Amino acid sequence: MLAIIGGSGLTQLANLEVTHRQVVRTPYGEPSGALTFGNLKGRKVIFLARHGYGHTIPPHKVNYRANIWALHSQQAGNVLAVAAVGGIRADLGPGTLAIPGQIIDYTYGREFTFFDATDRGVTHTDFSYPYHEPLRARLLRAAALAGERVIAGGTYAATQGPRLETAAEINRLERDGADMVGMTGMPEAALAREIGLPYAAIAVVVNHAAGRGSSEHGINLTDINAVSREAMMRVHVILEKLVELDGD
Ligand code: HPA
Repeated sequence: MLAIIGGSGLTQLANLEVTHRQVVRTPYGEPSGALTFGNLKGRKVIFLARHGYGHTIPPHKVNYRANIWALHSQQAGNVLAVAAVGGIRADLGPGTLAIPGQIIDYTYGREFTFFDATDRGVTHTDFSYPYHEPLRARLLRAAALAGERVIAGGTYAATQGPRLETAAEINRLERDGADMVGMTGMPEAALAREIGLPYAAIAVVVNHAAGRGSSEHGINLTDINAVSREAMMRVHVILEKLVELDGD
């Protein structure tokens, strides 16, 4: 069963026939909200709004561990994350969709691992390729079936937020090799890997990153909402194609 974590601009799934909602208790506290179970194109899916259904939880306060644990406990087979990003690379303008292939983590102070017990053997996790490649491949096929041109690959920089970056910080991220920047990709991806859940992301570019393109003189937060609304409609179609490819 596919689980979808919706980010900013995606607090509910249009066309999801909701069957039930379930509050899941976890050893890590409360997830961002009750899990929503339903059918999308006749296939079972679970949906969770990362920032809460009222969009009230800022990126650094999201209980990523509880969210991933809850999805895993409900037999999610794959997790597809939808994340709004700022575009750093020139061809990642507002409205572009990308399926990132790599991550650089700049976040701090978040609960970022399931393996922090001191009374068991130390556990390391291979994270060389942070996204699940077969799921990425299906997502790319789903995008093609939806008639959407998406950028296949790119490096996602995860920043702490909730403030946006300075122009100099974006220059540094670019020198580091980042193509896009968002605030929620980590530790979500790493926790999914730790718990053994195949995870991939679709990044929705909602603005040029600070100091770039139309954000040269600052980021217009009003424009972001309009871009996001339009792009999320296209994401919906891709998600529908993905569940059709995946089955239950
Ligand atoms: N920076 C960080 N996170 C974001 C941005 C950005 O420019 N746009 C959307 N999420």
